[in-house]
Amino acid sequence: MDIWHIRGGNCLEGTAQIQGSKNACLPILAAAVIAPLRCELLRVPKLSDVDAALKILRCLGCTAGRRDETVYIDSTTLSACAIPHELMAEMRSSVIFMGALLARCGEAWLSLPGGCRLGKRPIDLHLKALRALGAEIEEEGGELHCRAGKLCGAVIELRFPSVGATENAMLAACGAKGETIIRNAAREPEIMALQDFLRALGAELEGAGTAEIRIRGFHPRGCVQFKIPADRIAAATLACAAAGCGGDVSLQGLESQQISTLLHFLNTAGCDIMAQHHALRIRSEGRLQPVGTVVTAPYPGFPTDAQPLLMAAMLRASGRTLIRETIFEQRFRHVPELCRLGANIQVDGDTAEILGVERLSGTAMQATDLRGGAAMILAALAADGESIVFDEGHVRRGYEDIDRTLENLGASIFLEHEGEDNGFNTAVQSSARR
Ligand code: EPZ
Repeated sequence: MDIWHIRGGNCLEGTAQIQGSKNACLPILAAAVIAPLRCELLRVPKLSDVDAALKILRCLGCTAGRRDETVYIDSTTLSACAIPHELMAEMRSSVIFMGALLARCGEAWLSLPGGCRLGKRPIDLHLKALRALGAEIEEEGGELHCRAGKLCGAVIELRFPSVGATENAMLAACGAKGETIIRNAAREPEIMALQDFLRALGAELEGAGTAEIRIRGFHPRGCVQFKIPADRIAAATLACAAAGCGGDVSLQGLESQQISTLLHFLNTAGCDIMAQHHALRIRSEGRLQPVGTVVTAPYPGFPTDAQPLLMAAMLRASGRTLIRETIFEQRFRHVPELCRLGANIQVDGDTAEILGVERLSGTAMQATDLRGGAAMILAALAADGESIVFDEGHVRRGYEDIDRTLENLGASIFLEHEGEDNGFNTAVQSSARR
């Protein structure tokens, strides 16, 4: 159990470097098995989800190790095409190994993936896309057995631009004979990162970032070096932290245009934003203006992953903000926890109404999922007094050393791994723990 101790009320000031992107890195780690190759990945964030992907690679017979921010993979030694249930359950992205293994081995044995509990997260679009390429997939009791004597290029029409299904289809299509066209593909920057990596591996494909991706063929290269792009949601998290706490924060190494929808709302809320290509400066008084209605949507719309973060920033705004969540059916599970701080939020179906309050007061909360947990930390930073967030490892699945990053910006935050003696005031902890 991770226990985040936060003493709120400090303004944030200074500069932070943005970590490598979790959601770009995970499908790239899966892509490393589509052909026998050695690759060196730079700027790989230290996250438990990345560790889980490395465990899967080792379990498949690959060599996978890390030195600092660089991960080395040798997939020439791949010797298995089955992933045990306990590794599949560690994260959602384990399912992307399905397309990668089909491309390489023509077979994959796996089970339904884990990941944040955000409501139903079916994989029907993944399966439909792989079947269109010629895979036969049997599902029984959560176990999946996929086989493809030969994958053949096809036109894949996605009902919804699913990020994961687009990634799975791109990887399997690299092992297919003939051209594949993915229509209504996801347009997220992570899809572009996967395209860049696949091109570096020798794949011939284009269109990532648009709704139509074409994969024409694959002539594997043996050795590749690739740098993971910056994490737009980690950048969004720090921007929302600065907005909600007040202060003057510079973020470095990000692609600011990837979070332009968030920056638009923070600007409307009264933050002063100076965005350059690889840097961003945000100045805020702390007490924001309401921003009207925010609706989450696939990229380039407002990202669902930033929804809890913007909500945290708006809790003390001087009025009413509405947030409509259209991507996941249960992505307001953090709301009751934020209300424990004194926030005034009403949820009605897919819409949360936030009525800004003067003050938030420190309390104990339970992290519900990765971004929900991060939102609780952000809200606690803007609250009076001490807060505690109990967390079964959600936040560290997606944020590398977020405690140190925030502390360097002037926040009072401490991460305790349960069982360690830390000398921090644990009075709130013992009285409020549920
Ligand atoms: C990716 O999840 C991200 N995860 C999520 O990040 C992100 O919230 C999400 O995309 C949307 O941007 C990774 O990249 C590892 P989807 P993914 O398939 O691929 C429905 C975070 O906090 N759907 O685009 O699982 C699904 O139920 C996380 O970092 C189907 O109906 O998202 C959901 O409603 C959490 N059938 C919607 O599509 C399918 O076969 C979007 O899902 C697949 C998806």
